[in-house]
Amino acid sequence: MKFSLALFSFAISEAIAQTIPLKTLAAGVGRYFGCEIGQEALSDTNLTALTAAQCSVTTPENEMKWDATEPTQGVFTFTAGDAIVSFAEANGISVRGHNLVWSSQLPSCKQYFTRVTSTNWTNATLIAAMTNHITNVVTHYKGKVIHWDVVNEPFNGDGSYVSDVFYNTIGPEYIPIALQAARAADPTVKLFINDYNLDYSSAKLTAMVNLVTSLHARGIPIDGIGSESHLIVGNVSPSGYASTIAQMAAAFPGVLVAITELDIRMPTPATTANLNQQETDYYSVVSACVQYSACIGVETWGISDKYSWIPSTFSGYGAALPYDANFVPKPAVTGIVNGFGSVSATSSTTTTTTTTTATTKTTTTTTTTTTTATTTKTTTVITTTTTSPTTTTTTTTTKNPTTTTTTTITTAPTTTTATTGGSCSVKWGQCGGILWTGPTCCIASTCTPQAGNPYYSQCL
Ligand SMILES: *[C@@H]1O[C@H](CO)[C@@H](O)[C@H](O)[C@H]1NC(C)=O
Ligand SMILES: *[C@@H]1O[C@H](CO)[C@@H](O)[C@H](O)[C@H]1NC(C)=O
Ligand SMILES: *[C@@H]1O[C@H](CO)[C@@H](O)[C@H](O)[C@H]1NC(C)=O
Repeated sequence: MKFSLALFSFAISEAIAQTIPLKTLAAGVGRYFGCEIGQEALSDTNLTALTAAQCSVTTPENEMKWDATEPTQGVFTFTAGDAIVSFAEANGISVRGHNLVWSSQLPSCKQYFTRVTSTNWTNATLIAAMTNHITNVVTHYKGKVIHWDVVNEPFNGDGSYVSDVFYNTIGPEYIPIALQAARAADPTVKLFINDYNLDYSSAKLTAMVNLVTSLHARGIPIDGIGSESHLIVGNVSPSGYASTIAQMAAAFPGVLVAITELDIRMPTPATTANLNQQETDYYSVVSACVQYSACIGVETWGISDKYSWIPSTFSGYGAALPYDANFVPKPAVTGIVNGFGSVSATSSTTTTTTTTTATTKTTTTTTTTTTTATTTKTTTVITTTTTSPTTTTTTTTTKNPTTTTTTTITTAPTTTTATTGGSCSVKWGQCGGILWTGPTCCIASTCTPQAGNPYYSQCL
């Protein structure tokens, strides 16, 4: 057993990717892993089997949008959306409802939404039509969806509102009116505003955070922000992406942040270098989510490259999802596995945390390997937490149940080492949650425990 550490980690991770579902790894750190599905893919048993195996949340690609659910004003059709819900229910998958109010995929029938581009709508008649749509759709799916993207893509890149029929007729108040209608129809479903290009600091991100902050301050029902995250290989800045989650998480105490439509595209045909970069990029996104208790889960827009909107939308690009068109895991799966491992939820071993304030990157690797001839169960958790100017990296590998080897490698210009396991956690560390067996206090005066969800409390 003389592997280089890198090779060893890679081999374990690849094995894990096939044996421990992504949804299970996500649940271990109090998150979900989801993947969108479209009705056409429901008849592909390879795709449905992979989705059921790996994903605990799904979103209908088109089947709950306005043109699908209310093609003619006042006439509602839920057949396609119901098919997705049935698939989900049969497989223990939760559904994110998507979406209620959007400038796109509105009905084109002449008697109805062609009017939306005319002046035929008045403020009052459009509010009535929008509210009726929301009330009917949300009521139909009440108890069957966990989230609604109530308003989809309301902002332009410069932070101004998209000039669609809703904004042009009702003004910015269409957003609180829509949220209130959704809440009236379902008192418990989580209500989101969802948009793209929230994955880097921009006027749009600022506008979104400001909107959600002000809605909350007004007492308008709003639970969270969806960051679509349609990304490009090699363009994902780990610290930049994490900082956008931090900004959204700061909108108000208790706000939820969901990564809703993640895919990371590359020029096709895919190269080995790009597939490896994609692994890094998926890791950056998932580990950023795991860093912030507000971030409740990561969903990819599809799971297999066989079903992806990318090739038809971005000419010359594709290969954006974790599994290839033959349902074989790509390196991206390893990136997701390791991303969810980047905060360890359970630990039966002492965790050594090394903290440095130097600007130089510090790496601490703790590897615990327990092997047996007959074991089949394997768990790998790789933790990387980066919070400027503090860097903490912990790698824990456990195989059940007999022999144990522990190796600790520390390289740092100047380091201070604190051992946790019985004492209190350092800032950014976990300090509680279901299944958590580590410390439940934070080192006083530097941070305090804050519960993100039942599975995860963090020293902040
Ligand atoms: C606007 O309303 C008028 C009167 O009801 C109707 O004749 C006209 O076709 C409508 N315009 C559009 C674009 O639907
Ligand atoms: C439309 O009506 C709503 C509700 O009364 C109001 O809040 C909004 O400002 C109105 N919009 C315009 C453009 O007058
Ligand atoms: C899908 O499933 C069928 C039936 O099990 C199988 O023959 C086929 O090779 C699978 N793979 C793909 C890429 O369709």
